[in-house]
Amino acid sequence: MFNMNMSRFTYPIWGIFILTSVGLSNCRYDNEHDLYGNPNACDTSAVTFSQDIKMIIGQNCEGCHNGAIANGGLNLVGHQNISTSALSGAIMDRTTRSLGDPLLMPPGQPLSDCDQSKLRTWINEGAPNN
Ligand code: HEC
Repeated sequence: MFNMNMSRFTYPIWGIFILTSVGLSNCRYDNEHDLYGNPNACDTSAVTFSQDIKMIIGQNCEGCHNGAIANGGLNLVGHQNISTSALSGAIMDRTTRSLGDPLLMPPGQPLSDCDQSKLRTWINEGAPNN
């Protein structure tokens, strides 16, 4: 009598337990997503020369491409110089080559995917001085 009653109640309780666990783990996943965001996200919705491009070129290119040291005859200081090279296609051509290609810029150390996307976005917009 006692055992029969137990099994009649135990199965529904297990069912509820399993459904609750699934539900809770889904909630926890959602919350982590909201709290920490997507670490791989790359925001290209508002790329500007002053906020993004100047820094990308300054940190990755200027050391070898400036007024005093202009490797390949290329100076990448200032909007005028950068936009001219960008609109000619040279910057995207050189920064998107595969690792191991001797023409890759910076040499042997490709820009991050996000920096490449920002450059592409800015160039597609006409390389403005914004
Ligand atoms: C470690 C030094 C170094 C860094 C850093 C560097 N470059 Fe260069 N770059 C060179 C050298 C050396 C050449 C000339 C040889 C050649 O054409 O590959 C060159 C050539 C170029 C050229 C071809 C110029 C021409 O008209 O023939 C472009 C375009 C260029 N670099 C863009 C860039 C960009 C954009 C960056 C940053 C994302 C960058 N470089 C970073 C050394 C560098």
